[in-house]
Parts: sequence; structure tokens; C-alpha cells
Amino acid sequence: MNFIITTPLYYVNDKPHLGSVYTTIICDSIARYKRLLGDNVLFITGVDEHGLKIQRTAFEKGVSPREHCDEYSSIFKKNWHEWNISFDRFIRTTSKQHEKIVGEFYQRVRKSDDIYMGEQKGWYCVGCEEFKDNPENSPTQKCPIHMKNLEWKNENNLFFRLSKYQKEIEDLVNDQDFIQPKERRNEIVNFVSKGLRDFSISRTNLNWGIKVPDQEDHTFYVWFDALLGYISAISLNDKEYSLDSSISSGWPASIHLIGKDILRFHSVYWPAMLISAGLKPPKKIIGHGFLTREGKKMGKSLGNVLDPNILKSKYGDELVRWYLLKDISLGSDGDFQDRRFVDIVNNDLANTIGNLLNRTSSMSRKWFNNKTPDLRTDKSNELKLMSKATVRNYLEYFDNYKLDKASNELLNFAINTNLYLNKKEPWSLVKDKNKLDEVKIIIYDVLEATRIIGLLLEPILPTFSSNIINQLGEVDLQDKSWIEKLEWGLLPISNDLPKPKPIINKLEYE
Ligand code: MSP
Repeated sequence: MNFIITTPLYYVNDKPHLGSVYTTIICDSIARYKRLLGDNVLFITGVDEHGLKIQRTAFEKGVSPREHCDEYSSIFKKNWHEWNISFDRFIRTTSKQHEKIVGEFYQRVRKSDDIYMGEQKGWYCVGCEEFKDNPENSPTQKCPIHMKNLEWKNENNLFFRLSKYQKEIEDLVNDQDFIQPKERRNEIVNFVSKGLRDFSISRTNLNWGIKVPDQEDHTFYVWFDALLGYISAISLNDKEYSLDSSISSGWPASIHLIGKDILRFHSVYWPAMLISAGLKPPKKIIGHGFLTREGKKMGKSLGNVLDPNILKSKYGDELVRWYLLKDISLGSDGDFQDRRFVDIVNNDLANTIGNLLNRTSSMSRKWFNNKTPDLRTDKSNELKLMSKATVRNYLEYFDNYKLDKASNELLNFAINTNLYLNKKEPWSLVKDKNKLDEVKIIIYDVLEATRIIGLLLEPILPTFSSNIINQLGEVDLQDKSWIEKLEWGLLPISNDLPKPKPIINKLEYE
């Protein structure tokens, strides 16, 4: 395994919302991109099923936690299939494989003498499943994320010696490559510089969790349990699943992609737990921003959730993907606005890319007997140069996980190709018999640019991309890698072009 990417393991307290769809789509696009480059990819997603939040949700519904988790885990899995998410593993933290690995991991940490019994007192947010820093300073004592009252807890818990790893974690978070984007890194560097405090890793009075092996009345703290899901997912399908087998099959993860609210767990607590167990920390943590509605984080507790499945059934998954990937820069917050969504989809996908394909293939069919032109030039020309620059920039952006910039790069190429066509006016030139060769070269180049645009769309909008490529006729490039296909000039001349069908219908405002 040489590239492991993970989504967070989603709490099953509710159905997936647009925030979870957002995270998963970004991972999917990166996983597809890496596969196209020829990497051996393992894309992990799954669900976080234990803890007080889930236990309470089940209780309120009047069902057992197990029944509730079974139902919601399958909703998540089905949902990711419906969104065309190309995950390789779906880990449930209630699975026997996972439970075994949590136990093995705990023994390693204990051997390092990093576990002790202590008193845990403080204000707890059940929504975050986290003790809050200094909430006594807050007059309202509400969680700023969930806007719910905090609960006072005072228990004897097992603690993990996080403070022992101050130096290792400082070095790690100061490494420029570890946390992206930069603003997120600064928050964590600042947090770590104040001094790390040990944290509790078990709970008493909570049945719905994995039992701590040597402490019958303790269950593991849901975060200690869930983070290990990234490791148990690796050997999930092995007959001999174990911590060792997961580790030898590819740990550490290349990227944990998460929202900014859970950055501390991933970039501080988790690496320290791993180091304590003698394992490597993940290579990179990318913290994305929040999708907001009216400037507030979307979430069930806040009652402002936008149901992603309504959007999907109205518009299809790929139009939503385009908006989320192209319009929001990874790391910044993004507001979902219906009107802007319709405008972006219409302008970018229908008017710019769809129309470019449609009108060029129609002209070629009309003037050249339903085929691509029978002439092309090897000389360097405007579109060829533009294509080279686009591909170079696009790859560089994607390699740095700037998916919005990569998407805009290919979109700008489509805009410029449309402008080129308008400037050249082949529809006027075609009336002059002496200019026929010139027209052939123009049309060939525009069709070729469209092929490159279609290919560049593959990790971003896989179905839209293959619809574009199919409309350019049968092109046998089976023996070439995706990167090789991006080379200019591979569209065959005099090749049959199918009758153009609109690849997208324009959306109407409602
Ligand atoms: N269960 C933990 C993660 C454990 S990982 C070992 C959890 N689950 S969650 O379901 O609450 O959140 C999952 C992810 O969704 C987080 O990365 C969170 O940031 C993200 N989002 C939740 N609401 C969001 C938005 N409104 N916008 C974008 N992403 C948001 O935390």
C-alpha cells in the first residue's frame, strides 16, 4: 500500500449531512487522482459508533445502541455508494476486528508506562465528546460549536501521559508538511506551546464502549477507540487481522482529511498515542473548513442541516461535487447558497464545458462527414501551448491538494478555448474553399483541447468526464496511463464522432 487516505469516522447519531458529504467527496477526489497516477491507494472511511452521544441517541429512540448503530452504519455505507464514493474499506468501531486491535494497542501503550489512574474533573461537551478548556471563563458554559450546555463530570479514569511527548509533538507540528493549511498549523503550534496535559482515555458509568481489558468497569474513551479505526481498517478483510498485520500492510496513513474542529485529536493526541505504542504518526493532516448556512456550522444540534440527498435527487451527485470542490478552497469555510450553486453549475459545466463540446463536435460532424477532421498540425500553436501549461499547473495544484485551483485551471482552459473558437470564427472561414485546411486544424485543436479537459475532470467529476470522452468517439488509448493520455495530439484524425447529446441540462432557479 503506498497511499492511504482517510475520512473521519462519522458519528452515527444522525444521517450524513452536507458537511460529511463534503469531507468524503474531497477524499474521493484525491483517491481517484492518486489511482490515476498509478499509486496503490487504500481509501478508508467508516463510522464511530461508541460513546455517550450514540448511547443517548439510541435511548431517545427507544432502541438498543446496537440496533441503532446497525441501522445508521448501513445508511452511511449505502449513502457513500449512492454518491459514487470509491472507498476501499468501511470500518465500524463496533466490529470484532476493531475491538481486538484497540486491545492490542492499549497493551503497547501500557507497556510504555503511559497509563495511570487519575481523577478527571471538568466540563464536557457530549456533542464533541470532549472536555473543554477553561469553560469556567465562559458565562454561558455552552459549547461554542454545538451551542448546547456543557455537563460537569468528575470520575476516576485512566489517563494517558500526553505530557511526556511534548518535545516529539512540538517537533511534529512544527514540520511544515504535517498540518495543512498553514492557518490550521498555527492554531495547533500555539496550543502545543502552552504545554500538553495528560488526558483521560477511559470512562466509568458508560456501557456503550469497548471494555478496558484489565478494568472491568471502564470503557475506552470514544476518541481513543475511534482513532484506532484508521489502523484496524487496514487489516479489516484479512483472515488474521491484528495490529501487526495492519502496520505491516501500510501504516502510517498518508493523509487524514478532517474538519478543523477535530484537528487537535488528529495532530496532537493521536500522534502521541502512536509514538507511545512504538508506531509512526500519520504523514499529513489536512484540516478543511466548515460548510456554513447563514454563517453557522451546519449540524443537527443547530437545526440548519441541508439534506444532501435532496440536493442529489434534484441535481445529481456530480453537480454538487463541482460546487464543493471548485468553489471552496480546501481549508476555508464555504457558504452553501442555492442561487450561487445554480449559477456556477450553469456557467461552468453547461455554458462553458458542455457547450464547447457540443458546438465543436456538431461543426466537425457537419463539415467533415460525422468525423474528426482529417488533418492536424504538429506545429506548436496556441491551444497546444495552453494545454501544456494547464496540465502542468493542474498537476502541481492537485499534488498540493489545492483542488479548487486545479478545477479552476481546467475551467479556464475551457473558457480560453471557447474564446479561441470565437476569435477564429471557423464558421466564416469554412465558406472559403481555400481556408478549409485552416478550419480543419482549428476544429481538431478545439476537439483535442476538449479531450484534455475531459481527462482532467476525471478525478473531480468521474461520470461527467467519461461522458465527454465518449462523445469524442472511440479512442483506443488503452495501453497509455492517464498521464500519457494528457499528451497533446492523441485524438485520432478522421475518427467517427457520435451524435452529440447534451451532457448537462441547464438548471432553473426555483
Ligand atoms: N467521530 C468523530 C471523528 C472521529 S475520527 C477517528 C467526528 N464525527 S462527526 O460526524 O461529528 O464529524 C465528522 C467530520 O465532519 C468532521 O471532520 C467534521 O469537521 C465534519 N463536519 C461536521 N460538520 C461540518 C460542516 N458543517 N462542514 C464541514 N464539515 C463538517 O467528529
